[in-house]
Amino acid sequence: MMQPLHEATAYIQQNTDNFAPEFGIILGTGLGALVNEIEVQYSLSYADIPHFPVSTVESHSGRLILGLLAGRRVIVMQGRFHYYEGYSMEQVVFPIRVMRLLGIQKLFVSNAAGGLNPAFNTSELMVITDHINLQPSNPLIGKNIDELGPRFPDMSDVYDEHMVRQAMVIAEDADFDLREGVYVSVPGPMLETPAEYKYLSVIGADAVGMSTVPEVIAARHMGLPVFAVSVITDMCTPDRLKKVKLADILEAAAKAEPRMTMLIRELIRMQ
Ligand code: HPA
Repeated sequence: MMQPLHEATAYIQQNTDNFAPEFGIILGTGLGALVNEIEVQYSLSYADIPHFPVSTVESHSGRLILGLLAGRRVIVMQGRFHYYEGYSMEQVVFPIRVMRLLGIQKLFVSNAAGGLNPAFNTSELMVITDHINLQPSNPLIGKNIDELGPRFPDMSDVYDEHMVRQAMVIAEDADFDLREGVYVSVPGPMLETPAEYKYLSVIGADAVGMSTVPEVIAARHMGLPVFAVSVITDMCTPDRLKKVKLADILEAAAKAEPRMTMLIRELIRMQ
């Protein structure tokens, strides 16, 4: 089970002069602009990396970017994999495991999400402090890969509290409202019915999306500290629910992009 991971890792090392990234970053829907802040040293297409899944969503471009962000060595996934695209959970988290084998010490994740907490507004950012996994599966099912982590990984403190606090300080200094909350991950690809939004809210979620939790589970299995943040792209409370189009989601994400970019950059500078 480790061999495909080792082969992908070796290919990346061979094609980047053994660039040793300190931090991994997954860019979600409409948040690609962080790449403009990076002093890019290497850029590899997913399609060229052995065993790497290839991205199918049009709004994701499918490259691994390696370079410097705020003077730190980062590896960035430009484009991620979703279960709803038909990938197995193992494929969804394959790049996270490879980034770990390349040596990353922390993982930073962004995504687009629907707002369930009535205090939220479109284009606000929410730091994820906990999650609920409603995906139909998870990447740890099957024989445990003991080289990566334990059979029964602890999930009592998934999101690194210190980085959450650092993020709150960055937002305060920059004078914008940074929300905190629980992210629920659903399979999609359809959006939710009003009854489903109500249910997700009742079970304790502040935001809902179709990604992140599988990758975070794989990261925590390997003991990686994780920071994750959602852009609220549409409000899903009964009084504010309307028909959502992908274009609206991308527009709301684009509006939040400068803040998201600044937050991740400054947080990485502080590590
Ligand atoms: N539901 C699920 N995923 C989403 C949503 C939503 O309302 N908005 C953005 N991603």
